[in-house]
Amino acid sequence: MKRLLTGLQPSGQLHIGNYFGALKPFAEMYGEYESFLMVADYHSLTSLKDASALRENIIEIVRGYIAAGVDPNKAVIFKQSDVQEHTELAWIFECLVTVPFLELAHAYKDKVAKGLEANAGLFNYPMLMAADILLYDTEVVPVGRDQQQHVEYAREAANKFNVAYGQTFTEPQAKILGTVAVVPGVDGQKMSKSYKNTIPLFGSKDDISKAVMSIVTDSSGERPENVYAIHKLFKPESELSSIYGTNKGNYKTLKEALIADIDAFVAPMRAKYEAITEAQVKEVLEQGAAKARAIASAKMADVRKKVGVTI
Ligand code: ADP
Ligand code: TRP
Repeated sequence: MKRLLTGLQPSGQLHIGNYFGALKPFAEMYGEYESFLMVADYHSLTSLKDASALRENIIEIVRGYIAAGVDPNKAVIFKQSDVQEHTELAWIFECLVTVPFLELAHAYKDKVAKGLEANAGLFNYPMLMAADILLYDTEVVPVGRDQQQHVEYAREAANKFNVAYGQTFTEPQAKILGTVAVVPGVDGQKMSKSYKNTIPLFGSKDDISKAVMSIVTDSSGERPENVYAIHKLFKPESELSSIYGTNKGNYKTLKEALIADIDAFVAPMRAKYEAITEAQVKEVLEQGAAKARAIASAKMADVRKKVGVTI
């Protein structure tokens, strides 16, 4: 079996964009590989400086993946900060790549352009991600298209190390998740926790209603496109055509139909989510960390020898 690893930053509440773009496709494919699912908590420190929010987000992500169908007995679910070799290896990669090379990263440029602080962690971020991937001899990295370049950076880090110190790391391949188009937010832009335009994945019906009622409608067209674009994720377009046909211009009714459809869709998943306790999450992460550490520490022992710090 090929080895797969992916990571998700616990930087905010899970939303339906995350579900269709990441959780669902991951849950559908991870069983075909030896899979590692990592909570990238150190990555999220580049943007999140609220300890209690981070703690809650970590727990929510683990519960979210399990509720979405990932079996912790079939995938190694672990937290980046539990395996110290990640930050250690990132440093070594940082000493192999140049500043101009890191300056080419789109994600960094985009985030800074959007007003995020250009901290050194954000700048070096691709080398921590390279370490996440390469420590495990990962072959396949399922990510959204926005992360494809970071997988290229991991390939380059592997290559730089292999050339300098001898064959050590496997060059991974990105597998682009989400044939699903980008899920739009309530304002019609890409749904993202950074834009405060989300519909929460595990929210109550009330939370869903509030978000859906705030969807921006545009009265110029035949149907409210922002409502429809979200609705078609939850109901086949063949069924939607009659609902949108009979309720032309009646945005309130259409939004109410959408609320009911989202709620019906997430209800079973939400029940599963709510049944998972914090103690269960901790146990999953402890078991995952033990498995991840065993692999990472063996790899790092080899790396330390190769770079010359083991005397
Ligand atoms: P956010 O944009 O809310 O910060 P992340 O960047 O943490 O979300 O994304 C986590 C995963 O969810 C990625 O794999 C990403 O591709 C996917 N994802 C996030 N937002 C969307 C969206 N609006 N549509 C489709 N997939 C998304
Ligand atoms: N940078 C990824 C994101 O923001 C998260 C991530 C961290 C990741 N480490 C990873 C993804 C390793 C894949 C593999 O979405």
